[in-house]
Amino acid sequence: MSDPWVREAIAAINADYTRSADTHLVQVLLLALPEIKLYIKDESTHITGSLKHRLARSLFLYALCNGWVQKDTPVIEASSGSTAISEAYYARLLGLPFFAVMARSTSPEKIRRITQYGGECVLVDDPRQDRHHAKKLAAELRGHFMDQFTFAERATDWRGNNNIAESIFKQLSDEAYAIPEWVVCGAGTGGTAATLGRYIRYRGYETRVCVVDPETSVYYDYYHTRDSSLCRPGGSGIEGIGRPQVEPSFLPSTIDHMIKVPNAGSYAAIRILQELIGKRFGGSTGTNFYGACQLIAEMLRQGKKGSLVMLGCDAGELYNDTYYNAQWLEEQNIDIEPYLAQLKRFITDGVWVD
Ligand SMILES: Cc1ncc(COP(=O)(O)O)c(C=O)c1O
Repeated sequence: MSDPWVREAIAAINADYTRSADTHLVQVLLLALPEIKLYIKDESTHITGSLKHRLARSLFLYALCNGWVQKDTPVIEASSGSTAISEAYYARLLGLPFFAVMARSTSPEKIRRITQYGGECVLVDDPRQDRHHAKKLAAELRGHFMDQFTFAERATDWRGNNNIAESIFKQLSDEAYAIPEWVVCGAGTGGTAATLGRYIRYRGYETRVCVVDPETSVYYDYYHTRDSSLCRPGGSGIEGIGRPQVEPSFLPSTIDHMIKVPNAGSYAAIRILQELIGKRFGGSTGTNFYGACQLIAEMLRQGKKGSLVMLGCDAGELYNDTYYNAQWLEEQNIDIEPYLAQLKRFITDGVWVD
């Protein structure tokens, strides 16, 4: 039996969903490569600005239907920022206290948005400790630790219910190549990749899922070794994707291929993408674009035609002071020039030079 508050909370989330529009599938015109169609699933246009809007809705519904969240239950999350923004939005919708445990290096704009939705930010020095701190805080507050890194892969209805995969395939239905060769995404929790991989198998499509990974994340090595004890210090340098340790929601068996992307390549890619479509995306979208270019180059080498979809994860405005800032790049000792040249050459004539 459901309690009246939980019933109202679910109705409020459903009404919010009914008021919302889906995100666009934007074509990137690659004029030199007419036989290749590249699309961006622009998740930055969700009301809370990222693909995590879908996840936050799923996590709240999952927690409510499991009986984990009730009236006045404080909700706590460990996040690199985007999930916390979206969860703060839903917590406010339901009138629940919300606490985000995040790395101190999280962009100030993300912190501002969480606070704007009434959430409280708890900053930690070591990003590997975020889940530990969140769990502890939840116990102290007698709250619910949402734990996206565990529940992302199972909270989403991967068979449909307008999940990101279903939305992409529906939006491609009138295109020349309606079944893409590749879908390209990064992995934070790994939940998006799992949803895509499961949906594609469920529907019997030939599409493959490629996960791109920042240079210091452990996911790429885990994918190849299946050693779940892998651990590295520090953040990934690309907010939202890459982790210093293997997380439970990252399911390598749902992924067909992985590419490791240098962070400088991601920072260069968001600039090239801006030239192509006139819009700034965040670093993880650059990682996707850099990986997509490599996949396209391989398709061209094999004489293949077809389409690819990459995720546009969040907006570049969150990173004006970092990834888009020349001084910040210099302070980090990052030279994006070789990658700009590599990507420009690729866009101009389809040749990928390593
Ligand atoms: C900003 C951001 N957050 C998170 C993710 C990853 O999503 P997930 O947590 O589902 O793996 C991405 C992925 O591409 C991203 O760009």
